[in-house]
Amino acid sequence: MGQPVLGILTLYLNDRGLMEEKPIYERMTTAGKNLGLDIFVFTPADVNYAQNRINAHMYDTTTKSWSRKWRSFPHMIYDRCRIQKSHRFVQLSHFRKKYGHLTFLNRVLRNKWTVYKTLNREEKFRPHLPLTRYYDGQSDLTELIRKYPLVYLKPINGTGGRGILRIEKEQSGSYLIQGRDQSRRIVSPQRVGLTGIHNRLAKWNLRENHYLVQQGIQLKLANGRVHDYRMLVQKNRSGEWEVTGCAGRIGPSGSITSNLHGGGQAVKMKTLLNDWIKNEELAASVKQKAEELGVDIAAHLERSYGRLCELALDLAIDRKGQIWLLEVNPKPSREVFIQAGERETYRRAIIRPLEYAAWLYEQKVQRKDKAKAAAESLTRRDARDDTRDVTRDDTRDDSWNEFMDEFEERS
Ligand SMILES: Nc1ncnc2c1ncn2[C@@H]1O[C@H](COP(=O)(O)OP(=O)(O)OP(=O)(O)O)[C@@H](O)[C@H]1O
Ligand SMILES: [Mg+2]
Repeated sequence: MGQPVLGILTLYLNDRGLMEEKPIYERMTTAGKNLGLDIFVFTPADVNYAQNRINAHMYDTTTKSWSRKWRSFPHMIYDRCRIQKSHRFVQLSHFRKKYGHLTFLNRVLRNKWTVYKTLNREEKFRPHLPLTRYYDGQSDLTELIRKYPLVYLKPINGTGGRGILRIEKEQSGSYLIQGRDQSRRIVSPQRVGLTGIHNRLAKWNLRENHYLVQQGIQLKLANGRVHDYRMLVQKNRSGEWEVTGCAGRIGPSGSITSNLHGGGQAVKMKTLLNDWIKNEELAASVKQKAEELGVDIAAHLERSYGRLCELALDLAIDRKGQIWLLEVNPKPSREVFIQAGERETYRRAIIRPLEYAAWLYEQKVQRKDKAKAAAESLTRRDARDDTRDVTRDDTRDDSWNEFMDEFEERS
């Protein structure tokens, strides 16, 4: 049997071929080698659609250098493409459509609003979801402002804390509006009366920019900075969901978000949680509950959207120890663990998707071997029909056998 090939699918960040996460892909290629995985990196722009070939980026672990090489399609694809407003993203949609029948380690998750609706259908998740509305007009915001002293507004496709607003009711009865613009710059805080809120927000075009309104959770530490947690849930080498790690994030002074790219600082979960809850026993039980919730959410989203290999959950824990899910990230970066001083978690975070890929490949091979054995025990004609039946059983990846056949011919 040949070596399993994993293609890491990414997007150029500009038209000059700038690629993000290159150091991570170097580490993945090295780790993959030890697992017997042949890894290359590519973008939809590197695909020759007529010949089904890829002008791949290959990292040589010996010379520690990158080069290009024309490759056949990989057995499995690990999709690391993050949303971007560009023609490259349109190209990605075409790629996903045309090659949707291939084996992806992770399918596409939906926007914040759709993910919220999916989870909100399940009773067990509801206590962990801050009430959220799609912003269809002023009344949606008014409803939440009346209900809660703190409200967040976020674009449904936003990332990195861009375009997020926070409205907080103050003791005096006025409302404090704070936030970050689309370039992630902190906007100067403003105080308004209830009736002035909508006017102040007019320039944000909340409706056209597809915002959601969300119940805010009070997460200010004694020093006035906000905090939350980043939990990484991944499939392990047996194809089961597991929490790889969870780290705390503390936002910079004057920020309403904790994102590292917005100047946030990573810290160990235990330190932050014990400090926040001030009861070690309760903190330990909250941590365990959060981990169970993380695994449940990942498994549920996978059932809803198709195969996934990892998700990062932004979790908030309030003073009472109640766990809230702020957001689900489908393309998590792993830097939070390195910054929190958790080297081993960081290492595991990089290796797990590869171990899962190796496991997945093995499963496919075994299934194929079984199908072959069954086929050989029948007459030629019957055997052909039987193989087809077994292939059809593999509903998500019915192209696999074709690819295996093609691959075996090649090697
Ligand atoms: N409902 C909320 N209550 C309190 N804080 C919140 C709430 N929603 C978001 N935040 C704060 O804002 C940050 C960014 O929010 P969110 O993760 O939803 O947006 P994002 O732009 O997609 O971020 P990223 O893509 O980097 O994860 C959170 O990490 C948290 O610090
Ligand atoms: Mg987030």
